[in-house]
Amino acid sequence: MKPVRLAILGLGTVGGGVLKLLQENAAEIKRRTGREIQITHVGIRRPHPELNLDGIAQSADLLDIVRQPDVDIVVEVMGGIHPANEVILEAIKHGKQVVTANKALLAEHGNELFKAADDHAVQIAYEAAVAGGIPIIKVIREGLAANHIEWLAGIINGTGNFILTEMREKGRTFEDVLKEAQELGYAEADPTFDVEGIDAAHKLTLLASIAFGIPLQFDKVYTEGISKITAQDVKYAEELGFRIKHLGIARRAPQGIELRVHPTLIPEEQLLANVNGVKNAVLVQANAVGPTLYYGAGAGAGPTASAVVADIIDIVRDISYTEDGAGTIPQLAFEALSDVGILSHEEMTTGYYLRVDVEDQTGVLADITTILSREGISIDAIMQQPRLKDLIPIVILTDPIVESKMETALTKIQALPATRGEIVRIRLESLES
Ligand code: HSE
Repeated sequence: MKPVRLAILGLGTVGGGVLKLLQENAAEIKRRTGREIQITHVGIRRPHPELNLDGIAQSADLLDIVRQPDVDIVVEVMGGIHPANEVILEAIKHGKQVVTANKALLAEHGNELFKAADDHAVQIAYEAAVAGGIPIIKVIREGLAANHIEWLAGIINGTGNFILTEMREKGRTFEDVLKEAQELGYAEADPTFDVEGIDAAHKLTLLASIAFGIPLQFDKVYTEGISKITAQDVKYAEELGFRIKHLGIARRAPQGIELRVHPTLIPEEQLLANVNGVKNAVLVQANAVGPTLYYGAGAGAGPTASAVVADIIDIVRDISYTEDGAGTIPQLAFEALSDVGILSHEEMTTGYYLRVDVEDQTGVLADITTILSREGISIDAIMQQPRLKDLIPIVILTDPIVESKMETALTKIQALPATRGEIVRIRLESLES
């Protein structure tokens, strides 16, 4: 069979990793696909003397590359919305298969791109867009295809997890760890995407879409970052037997679907609580199999390239073995569920960790617990910490409660004469089914 011809757009951390992996494992990949994969074009803006580009056409004109007849698969690994969106649409119009690691693009423009792909009978494969090297897209779409997925919860941003881990284990500062993550190639071009939860929200959008058969709805994900997490709350959480992790959670609730990304207390004995460094993990609760957990490297050249090249191999197999040359997996197979609404964060239900710093006044603890009880909020644990400066930190864990009730209670507690500073509120999940 003739070789399958590839254009790689972007040779940064991920693109360079893809090129090297295809070159290093060429014999093994050929054995698995039955065909040689030939890189015919690379789209680059500067020379890359560190890479072996012998015999590969090099150009900065990406639209021209994706129109070339000697390209069967376009691998977009440059990131960003523009020009990636226009270039991928052009590739699709020219009948090219597409592999991308671009979670931002798919989360925000995927509905149009997948529709275009279906219209032109090509695939957009995106395993590398979520959780780096963990094949979580294939797990949900193929391995768990028999199940009704009830919820999933994941650590899906390696940079954020690396920062929280280093802060907790080594007492390092937020800025110092972020700088290291950037040097290691983990962080997004704009690192606020990592620390403010936007990157995780992009990935959660993609996971929820395939898990629940709903269109991509990035704008409906409730998103909170880790930049306000302090060493003080990390310590108090540990004293209560919890770790703070930045989770992406998608859950079917009776009234609709919860899509949320926020710092979360989870019991320290949970496996997810022990996922450290740049590692990612996704816990999926499905009705037949029960809970299953997927763990691995969530960022970096090798893991991301592993996922990109696996997608290339899948497509090579598909176009080699289907009669019409089209992909076999429909991209827009949204189920009847698609009219189930996404809940606003006020309608979502979680437990809470609260820290209220108060002046030492008689009756203040009673005032706080009365306010909570009037809103129907049940206290799971309460702890008065030693005086810090002139204030007494009161730490409270609550049972799950709808957020609007917690908001009402917090407004009242904040207004108490003894309350000082802003109340710290971090959500808490037991992650049990
Ligand atoms: N910035 C991302 C992360 C890269 O840290 O997880 C992988 O998507």
